[in-house]
Amino acid sequence: MSTPLFDRLRSHCQRLRLYRLEAELPTLLEQAAKRDVPYSDFLDELLGLEVRSKAEKHLTMRVSMARFPFQKTLDAFDFKFQPSIDPKVIRELATGRYLESGDNVLLLGPPGVGKTHLAVALGLKACEHGVRVLFTTAAGLIATLGKALAEGRLDERLKILAQPQLLIIDEIGYIPIDRQGANLFFQLVSRRYERGAIILTSNQSLGAWGEVFGDPVIASAILDRLLHHSITVNIRGDSYRLKEKMKAGLLKSKLVATAAGE
Ligand SMILES: Nc1ncnc2c1ncn2[C@@H]1O[C@H](COP(=O)(O)OP(=O)(O)OP(=O)(O)O)[C@@H](O)[C@H]1O
Ligand SMILES: [Mg+2]
Repeated sequence: MSTPLFDRLRSHCQRLRLYRLEAELPTLLEQAAKRDVPYSDFLDELLGLEVRSKAEKHLTMRVSMARFPFQKTLDAFDFKFQPSIDPKVIRELATGRYLESGDNVLLLGPPGVGKTHLAVALGLKACEHGVRVLFTTAAGLIATLGKALAEGRLDERLKILAQPQLLIIDEIGYIPIDRQGANLFFQLVSRRYERGAIILTSNQSLGAWGEVFGDPVIASAILDRLLHHSITVNIRGDSYRLKEKMKAGLLKSKLVATAAGE
């Protein structure tokens, strides 16, 4: 289709960055002519298409900027397998209200019970709510802050890490944190305190964080700020990873092999 009017419409679309509309314009015009739709309905259809397209694009961008290790949703989480989790608490978190007040969420439990899955799923929900999210592991975060400190750019890095409305810090407790790391972690938590929400996952109970951070004084200062406005989800139960292996018969055969000294 190429008439002066159509070319002008395309050029308007380009200047207004209505790219989806521009792409669909010939089909939409053709369909509307056939259906003889009221002007208001047609306009609604056109603008709705562009709004949906832009929303999808922004969501994809937010998700990619969040740097999730994988994408798993709440729908894919089997709450029956983990009865220690109250689905109501997770559903409430999914509304994103905790983000407005900058509350923190602590997901605690042994390996394989779904802490990272839930953190990612809540992160994806936050992206859907239009919030900027960043996912990192505790080890990755401390390495980044340590590097920034060495390069004299700590303040700049802390500012960057204070920006996303939701910061997810996965796997606190797996790798011991030295005094400098604990100090840097404390600075970050202080920066975000009452400003931006943090979701943390840990395989260690809060009582053991003194050992994790190698210093009970810093650990209690970190926890004091984290817990002031927070929701803690204590997960007790079996590892989903092991359940899947059991199902596949892999674990059983491995255990038998180990017992037999193979
Ligand atoms: N209740 C569940 N329903 C569905 N999938 C689950 C459930 N719990 C865990 N999983 C899946 O099992 C695997 C392990 O879960 P996840 O990585 O979230 O565990 P984790 O608690 O973070 O463990 P770790 O402490 O070792 O990091 C993932 O593939 C996750 O999607
Ligand atoms: Mg995990």
